Amino acid sequence: MKVTVTINGTAQTADIEPRKLLVDFIRTELGMTGTHIGCDTTSCGACTVLLDGTPIKSCTMFAASADGHEVQTVEGLKNGELHPLQVSFKQNHGLQCGFCTPGMMLVGKALLESNPSPTDDEVRWAISGNLCRCTGYTNIVKSIQAAGAAIEGN
Ligand code: FES
Ligand code: FES
Repeated sequence: MKVTVTINGTAQTADIEPRKLLVDFIRTELGMTGTHIGCDTTSCGACTVLLDGTPIKSCTMFAASADGHEVQTVEGLKNGELHPLQVSFKQNHGLQCGFCTPGMMLVGKALLESNPSPTDDEVRWAISGNLCRCTGYTNIVKSIQAAGAAIEGN
């Protein structure tokens, strides 16, 4: 079937099998490998993308269901220069191996759009569907809060 999904602002049309998952559409049809696959069972959040601004696990959605919608992947964060989240994850050691990082940053982006100054608990709630095996989460929380402050100009 033919689907058109707007990925990072660009309409992408492809003929795909109806059973193709959104994460496979992004990674194999479009070659955008910043969206990771960890568990493939909706558990780890490595495959998180924004669908019309809301974080979703792209291993659990058919690409056909995204037809006509807007998807943002980690590749869409940088706009000429690094996004404040990318800068703050680097500055605050919010990543080690980086496997969870695209999902964490996109969840952070969605959170900061509605709440630019989240508390620790609010960040932890927002990232509760995303697993990190390396950092212990503290620096991820700090990174998302620091990005919010940078976006607000504090
Ligand atoms: Fe989608 Fe783990 S790969 S939640
Ligand atoms: Fe390695 Fe999070 S930085 S899984």
